[in-house]
Amino acid sequence: MERTLVLIKPDAMQRGLAGEIILRWERRGLKIVAMKMIHMSQALAEEHYSVHRGKTFFPGLIGYITSYPIIAAVLEGHRAVEAVRQTMGATDPLNAVPGSIRGDLSLDIGRNLVHGSDSAETAAREISLFFSPQEIFSAPRDIDPWVFEEQKG
Ligand code: RTP
Ligand code: MG
Repeated sequence: MERTLVLIKPDAMQRGLAGEIILRWERRGLKIVAMKMIHMSQALAEEHYSVHRGKTFFPGLIGYITSYPIIAAVLEGHRAVEAVRQTMGATDPLNAVPGSIRGDLSLDIGRNLVHGSDSAETAAREISLFFSPQEIFSAPRDIDPWVFEEQKG
């Protein structure tokens, strides 16, 4: 099963939306295999968002993501990267479809509530930044056959 890293960003924590956001992923069938609350350091933030280094929004993005504690989690499922991104909605909330987290709950690209890895390769890199192998739980759930017809990659 594919894994992806999600972050519930400072604005979601400040606004009391963590439960609602987790609910949306969890009810869709994605499995939580790791979760922690952390206050991201400048160094971790710059590493996590290193692909955006040098862009005009980079300083603001680092300031935002380090401004308050966040929840980091690893979600697992068939095509989890794509499923999480679809449930999040587009980066700019005004382009995010109604029914998505960003489309329903946010308005500004710099306050867009959530992060999700953008590919399986990115996910592997990002998961290792936030979690050690011992912090990730692999036991299968009894409901998995009721979410996925068969155990796919
Ligand atoms: P994320 O990495 O946080 O999941 O968001 P994303 O893939 O949808 O968007 P990405 O292009 O990776 O951008 C990372 C975050 O930077 C902020 N951003 N601001 N002002 C701008 O033009 C701009 N572009 C991006 C957003 O907070 C975005 O989530
Ligand atoms: Mg991104």
